[in-house]
Amino acid sequence: MGTHLGIDIGGSGIKGAPIDVASGALAANRLRISTPQPALADPVAATVCEIVDSFPGVTGRVGCAFPGIVISNRIYSAANLDKSWIGVDAGSRFTEACGRPVAMINDADAAGLAEARFGAAAGRPGVVLVLTLGTGIGSALLHDGRLVPNTELGHLELGGEVAERHASNRARKTQRLSFKEWAERLNQYLAHLDRILSPELVVIGGGISKRFDKFGPRLRSRAEVVPAVLRNNAGIVGAALWAAGSGATQPTAANRR
Ligand code: BGC
Repeated sequence: MGTHLGIDIGGSGIKGAPIDVASGALAANRLRISTPQPALADPVAATVCEIVDSFPGVTGRVGCAFPGIVISNRIYSAANLDKSWIGVDAGSRFTEACGRPVAMINDADAAGLAEARFGAAAGRPGVVLVLTLGTGIGSALLHDGRLVPNTELGHLELGGEVAERHASNRARKTQRLSFKEWAERLNQYLAHLDRILSPELVVIGGGISKRFDKFGPRLRSRAEVVPAVLRNNAGIVGAALWAAGSGATQPTAANRR
């Protein structure tokens, strides 16, 4: 347990805060620094270190969420970030740059761990899907609170194109879709996900989840669909949980029995 530092790398901002991993609460105000452009490894590492250094009192571990496939701290995709990240051992890079161990996790997986522990999916057994709707679509698949990492369900094909290009919040904004039109696209996507995964609960996260009242009532799904509770902090909370080593396994109502 204790306080660990969670950092979330996004296309426009890099955010971080110390997190009390027993409660999921932020132990200090969050710091946000604009993502260097282009978002290459060296300047991003420098920004991550700046965030680490600005919380000198936090001696716990450092977890960092990244918007791409992450396996053993190495990056395997970067759909919405500079492609030069692919193949980079971000864990080692950040660990060397910051002078202390940094554990990497996919950003949606981090959000999923946080929602499953402290948020909308807390204590929920069965198959739970957490979707983050932002620049892309991130996904976290949990079963009885345990994460299946790197599901990348935003990259499923939907209507002949990559789902996130069709149904992300960026698609809504750039294609000037009304909430009604966007909700129809989300309904197609949810139907597709239901066919392949039959989730019991779908949690909608990302910044737009705070406007859930605008599109949530239009969503139709066999599964229960609810807004995320931790919203924009889910990534940093989940990254800290991951670093603390307590993100991967968690007792739920189902597996405690
Ligand atoms: C990436 C995912 C990421 C999601 C949200 C997608 O484009 O492939 O890894 O979780 O965007 O940032």
